Amino acid sequence: MRADELREMYLDFFKSKGHSVISGSSLIPQNDPTVLFTTAGMHPLVPYLLGEKHPSGIRLCNCQKCVRTGDIDSVGDTSHLTFFEMLGNWSLGDYFKEDAIAWSHEFLTSKSYLGFDPKQLHVTVFEGNENVPMDEESVAIWQKLGIPREHIFALPIEDNWWGPAGKTGPCGPDTEMFIDTGKVACGANCRPGCSCGKYFEIWNDVFMQYSKQEDGSYLPLQQNNVDTGMGVERTIAMLQGKRNVYETELFAPVIEMVSEKSGKRMDESEKTGMAFRVVSDHLRSSVFILGDEQGIAPSNVGQGYVLRRLIRRAVRYAKQLGLEPGFSGPLAGTIIDNYKHVYPELDSNREHITRELVQEEEKFEKTLTRGMSELEKVLSKLVEHKQTQFPGRVAFKLYDTCGFPLEFTEEICEEHGLKVDHQGFDKAFAKHKEVSKQSAEKAFKGGLADNSEATTQLHTATHLLHKALQMVLGEHVKQKGSNITEKRLRFDFSHPEKMTMEERQKVEDVVNDVISKDFPITVDTMTIEEAREAGAMALFSGKYGEQVKVFTIGDFSKEVCGGPHVERTGELGRFRIAKEGSSSAGVRRIRAVLEA
Ligand code: ALA
Repeated sequence: MRADELREMYLDFFKSKGHSVISGSSLIPQNDPTVLFTTAGMHPLVPYLLGEKHPSGIRLCNCQKCVRTGDIDSVGDTSHLTFFEMLGNWSLGDYFKEDAIAWSHEFLTSKSYLGFDPKQLHVTVFEGNENVPMDEESVAIWQKLGIPREHIFALPIEDNWWGPAGKTGPCGPDTEMFIDTGKVACGANCRPGCSCGKYFEIWNDVFMQYSKQEDGSYLPLQQNNVDTGMGVERTIAMLQGKRNVYETELFAPVIEMVSEKSGKRMDESEKTGMAFRVVSDHLRSSVFILGDEQGIAPSNVGQGYVLRRLIRRAVRYAKQLGLEPGFSGPLAGTIIDNYKHVYPELDSNREHITRELVQEEEKFEKTLTRGMSELEKVLSKLVEHKQTQFPGRVAFKLYDTCGFPLEFTEEICEEHGLKVDHQGFDKAFAKHKEVSKQSAEKAFKGGLADNSEATTQLHTATHLLHKALQMVLGEHVKQKGSNITEKRLRFDFSHPEKMTMEERQKVEDVVNDVISKDFPITVDTMTIEEAREAGAMALFSGKYGEQVKVFTIGDFSKEVCGGPHVERTGELGRFRIAKEGSSSAGVRRIRAVLEA
C-alpha cells in the first residue's frame, strides 16, 4: 500500500464512522503560542478540546503536516523524521476509549483495511502515578478485542502520557500501537518503547481527560476527548515490509538523486547512510516549511532559525557525500514533484522554495570559509604560545555560528597537536540551549498566549483595530501577524509608511466609539465561500466547502476566526495605542492596551 492509498483509506474509514474530514492546518501555528511549529494534529484543535464548539461537529479526522525538531542534532537514525504526516481522528466530548480502541484495532487488523496480523500488534498503556490510576480500562478493551495480556505493556508517564507542549493545556494517558518487525529482541527487557527497532510505533490514541494547570496539578476537563495520531511514513514502511521509512516511495526519488549525484549508496556504510538520511530528511522539512501557506524564510529567530539550521545541517552532510554546491535546488524540485498532488502549495511556491534554499546554501558556503579562517587564526596563536588545549567555548562558537561540527574542529586541531576541551564545549552548549529555549518561547509568531479574560478582551479589540485601520488608512491594510498576552495586543499589518499622530488618534476614536456603543458579538457557522460572500475578512484559505466560524461585531466588522471573544464590546474598557513602529519592509506594528 502506498501513502496515497493509506491517506484515503484512513479518512474514508473514519468518515464511515461518522467523522467529518477537516483540512490540515499550516505548519506555523495560528492560535497556539506554546509551539514554533505544528507538531501534531491536535495543536490547531486545542480550543475545541477545551470545550469550544467546532463548526464541523464532534467527530473529526484529517491528515496534518507536522514538524518536530526537538533535538535536530540527533536526527539521522532510521526512524526519526523532522517532518512527517499525521493521520488523526478526534472525539470532542463524544466517543471515548471503547470506540477509539475498537476502531484503531479494526483499521489495523481488518482484511478490508490495513490487514496487519493481530499477532504482530503490541500495545502500551499508562501504568499510573500518584495523580492518575493505571489505565486498566484500556487493558480490558484490548483484551476483549483479542490482544493477549502479554502483548500489553504498562509504561510510565514519560512514555504513555500526552502532555501539553507549554505549561498548561489538555492532556491525558495514551495507548500506543506497535508492530513487531520480527527482529530478534535485543535482550530480556526488550519491549515496545525499546530503541533497538524490534517494535515500531505507528499509532497513538490519547484520552484527553485532564487540563494541566499553572501549578502543575491536573483538573478533569469538562468533556472526555480522544486525540489520535498515526504516522504515515512509519505505517507504510511497515505495510510495505521495509526496514525503515527511507525505503518507501516518499523518499525513493530523493535518495536516488543523491545516489546519482554522489556516486554512493545509502547502505554503503553507517556514516554514508546517516548522511543520506540527514540530507533527505532535512531538505524535505525545509521544502515544506518554505512552501507553507505562511511563507517562512531562513532567519536568526523563531521558525526561521530552525529552518536555517535544517538547511545548513543538510549542506554539511551533502558536502560529506561530495555533492556539488547548488545541489539543493534540483533535490527540492524532486521533493516538490513527489508531493505536489497532495500539497499543491509546494508547487505554487516552487520558485520561493528553490530561491531561498539556494541562497541559504550560498550564504552558508561563505560562513564556512569565514569559520575556517577564524579557526586557523586561533590555532596559530595557541600553537605560538605552546598551548595543547583548544577552548571549548571557541569550538562551540564555531559550531553555533559557522556550523562546524565538533568532530570537524577536533580533526583540524589534532593536526596541530591540540585537543578540544569537551567540558567547556558542553558547558557553552548547555547555556546556549537554555537561552534559545527562552527565546523560542518568546518568538511565537501568532496567536493568543492563553484563554484568560484579559486576553480574550484584547483579542476582540484586535478585530476592532483591524477594521478601524482599514477605515482610516485604506483597504490595503491586511493583518500580517498577531500576538496577544494578558497585558497587551500586538498587531502587524501592511502599510507603507509611519502613521501620523492624527491617524493614530482617529483609529483610537473609531475603536472607542464601537466600544461605547456596546455592540453584541455573535458567531455563525458557515462554509468558507458563504463567509466570503457575506463580506467576512478571511485571513487563511480553507478547503472548499469547509465549515468556519464567523464573528460579527454589531454592524461594524465580520471576520473568520476561531475565537474566543467577549460577548459585548462594552466589556472592553478604553483602547489606547501605546506604540506604532516598523516591523519589516512595508509592515507596521502596533502595540495597544485596554485601560479601565
Ligand atoms: N497527539 C498525539 C500524538 O501526536 C496523538 O502522538
